[in-house]
Amino acid sequence: MKMLISNIKTLVQVEENPRKWVVGTDMANLNCIDNAYLLIEDEKIADFGKMTDLPNYDEMEGFDQVEEIDATGRMVFPSFCDSHTHLVYAGSREIEYTDKIKGLSYEEIAKRGGGILNSAKRMHEATEEELYESAMERIHEIISLGTGAVEIKSGYGLTLEDELKMLRVIKRIKETTPLTIKASFLGAHAVPAEYKGRQSEYVDLIINEMIPVIAAEELADFIDVFCDKGFFTVEETDRILNAGMKYGLRPKIHANELDYSGGIQVGVKYNALSVDHLEFVGEDEIKSLQGSETMPTVLPGAAFFLNMVCSPVRDMMNAGLPVALASDFNPGSSPSGNMKFVMSLACINYKMLPQEAINATTINSAYAMGIQEELGSIAKGKIANVFITKEIPSVEFMPYAYGSNLIDAVILRGQRL
Ligand code: NIG
Ligand code: FE
Repeated sequence: MKMLISNIKTLVQVEENPRKWVVGTDMANLNCIDNAYLLIEDEKIADFGKMTDLPNYDEMEGFDQVEEIDATGRMVFPSFCDSHTHLVYAGSREIEYTDKIKGLSYEEIAKRGGGILNSAKRMHEATEEELYESAMERIHEIISLGTGAVEIKSGYGLTLEDELKMLRVIKRIKETTPLTIKASFLGAHAVPAEYKGRQSEYVDLIINEMIPVIAAEELADFIDVFCDKGFFTVEETDRILNAGMKYGLRPKIHANELDYSGGIQVGVKYNALSVDHLEFVGEDEIKSLQGSETMPTVLPGAAFFLNMVCSPVRDMMNAGLPVALASDFNPGSSPSGNMKFVMSLACINYKMLPQEAINATTINSAYAMGIQEELGSIAKGKIANVFITKEIPSVEFMPYAYGSNLIDAVILRGQRL
């Protein structure tokens, strides 16, 4: 099966030699080809270049069956990689949304038994089938919004049984969609009500009972901890990451959303693939990230929804760090997986350039979920997950037109959906 997309106004994020990530001032550079073609063979990107260099495929063997798409006036982007979501959940939480409007803080809502524990209760009551069906609705929505790869966390189970239920749903999503999916075990998302005052016993449960079973069933690629004020301490995070490491689970953690929690440093200590949220980042945090293999990941949707301070993204880039962006799609703090809107928020609230936002939602977010060799850019041999835009005047128009759906066609694994 071959597909030729021709007359592409701009082919965005092309790489002759794929990079592992883009850092610092380089993030403002975006490699594009105007008036381009893209050739897809089976599931992979086979070739691309300027229309003037288009080989005469008609004369080549097997090219009688090529599907041709004329993209005149339209652009082609690599699909977004959304490296941080909680999109398997049971039920929305708009009641807390109203509480927030009335002025209650995230921590106050959590203390009132709402927040994550509210979702855990509903998770317990939901069947695997119900969870799968509702998650698939979200999956179809994000596919239509241009996402081609997504990381999904557990963490609304908080018992061995319910964490396994969530992770099995994620596995089933992996098996039944063309998206590339990574799973993270987030048993340490919140302390269940029945462990109130016995937090260390819950940590023991995660270490002694949950991690071994989840690892044995190969249900998770990564391990996550919500290392922040009011949730899990640095010491507890250290214990959990240490235990996860013994089972080959690399950390991707929630850190420094509510305070200078030490989460970034403990994440780097365990060679976390990413540390995420990062509203509270100062010199010490930046120093610890420099020279590490850890991707600082910012979640503008959650900061927007909770009306929080913005992560100092510019300071991190000025210090030569890479930055990734993800949606944090979840019912409590970011009920949206719209990566184009995430880019708009990054541009407006964090003063990222559109080019920086595109690098942060493609190459860098691919790294943040360990798939940079397969996805995140238009490069020969990478998986053909791309989208074709509607007619747009410029690359900058994508984040600029923040409320418009500018995606005309989605291609995943070489198949037009
Ligand atoms: O990433 N910060 C921790 N966890 C989620 C919130 C989940 C929830 O409120 O349900 C987040 O924002
Ligand atoms: Fe999150």
